Amino acid sequence: MMGNLTRIGVLISGGGSNLQAIIDSCEKGIIDGQIVFVGSDVSDAAGLKRARTNRIPTFVVDYKSIIQNYKNTPSRKMVPRDFNLQEAASKQSFFKPDTEFKFLKFFLESRAVAEADLLDRMKPYPYDLLVLAGFMRNLTPYFIDRVNTNRSLPRIMNIHPALLPAFPGIDGYGDTFRYGCKVGGCTVHFVDYGEDTGPIIGQRAFEINEDDTIETVRQKGLKLEWELYPECIQLYAQGRLKTVKMSFAAGGGKSSDRTVVRVVRKGQ
Ligand code: GRF
Repeated sequence: MMGNLTRIGVLISGGGSNLQAIIDSCEKGIIDGQIVFVGSDVSDAAGLKRARTNRIPTFVVDYKSIIQNYKNTPSRKMVPRDFNLQEAASKQSFFKPDTEFKFLKFFLESRAVAEADLLDRMKPYPYDLLVLAGFMRNLTPYFIDRVNTNRSLPRIMNIHPALLPAFPGIDGYGDTFRYGCKVGGCTVHFVDYGEDTGPIIGQRAFEINEDDTIETVRQKGLKLEWELYPECIQLYAQGRLKTVKMSFAAGGGKSSDRTVVRVVRKGQ
């Protein structure tokens, strides 16, 4: 915290319209927070300009060339010393258990190289919450464990362009539209070891009617994202988000567990 302002780090890959909504919300006092850095995995992300215009420190971690470089000359020396392949492989849940180990190894090692760089670039800017605003890279357990140091409250948030758990992946609005859904939406969630699987913080929905196209669906969705993300960040800033483990009977005498978010009253 900076006084009573929550320090927010933001990662982007693209236009940064969500970043802009967060900048504006901090400015207007809708979020009791301040953005302390904006990082990107691509140097030409238009959102970087929005950050610079607002005098927010920026940096780039060029994932593409880091991964290519590791592919060309894979060397144990490039992988961070504190990276443990077995641990990362057993924790991650983006890939099916029968995924070829060679592929998994390359994925986790090359990402750890990029993520170690990312952690280094973030280090000069202490933050309370890390917000993914259109950051198009999966974060692996190596990175997540080094950010989520307090086990009781995760601190990486993401916004996804669909009503999760429907349509995880990179094109939520497109997938929603092509499936013929009559309702679409967006979801803010904490990041866990899977792809778009973490505990849900908030969701907004909109109707899809006969006149809609992929483009109008995207516009309707983004408009809701710009409201929803600042609201969820403000709940975090107010200390109103708690995670709890729920156990449900799953038939056959088995039970299944899921960590969910509870929004508590102020000061509770
Ligand atoms: C948004 O639709 C967000 O849900 C998704 O990527 C898009 C980013 O848009 N994760 P922008 O860069 O914030 O304009």
